[in-house]
Amino acid sequence: MANTIYILNGPNLNLLGTREPEIYGNATLADIKTACAARCKSRGYGMSFHQSNIEGEIVEHIQEAGCKAAAVIINAAAYTHTSVALYDSLKALSIPVIEVHISQPAAREAFRGTSYIAPVATGSISGFGTNSYLLAIDAAIDTLL
Ligand code: DQA
Repeated sequence: MANTIYILNGPNLNLLGTREPEIYGNATLADIKTACAARCKSRGYGMSFHQSNIEGEIVEHIQEAGCKAAAVIINAAAYTHTSVALYDSLKALSIPVIEVHISQPAAREAFRGTSYIAPVATGSISGFGTNSYLLAIDAAIDTLL
């Protein structure tokens, strides 16, 4: 069985650290990657971590995960609320998918109340800051046990 957790990040998450810190905190995406790698390693898994501002590139990573990953953790960022393409690609997977958000989208603007990821995810973790990622790793791996 595959031993790698794919962690995929959508648009503008490359700006973490400076982007709306009152909502997203001060950690950079590099900080999150380091923390996620350590958590995956401590649980006996490898990690493949990606960020893209381009919807089609995220689709490519999801398709690759279908062949190479044990599970997918995805913060689709704004594409959460718009992307049928991500919905379709995640729906085609037969491995656990965990939706993750740093903030709690349902408590923000009304348009963030719609998720195209949640209906094709095993579960969703939102609102715990960057710790949402670590909770998602534990949830993904616990699902595989
Ligand atoms: C986000 C929430 C989304 O609504 C937003 O578009 C993002 C980040 C989060 O992690 O809280 O870019 O996914």
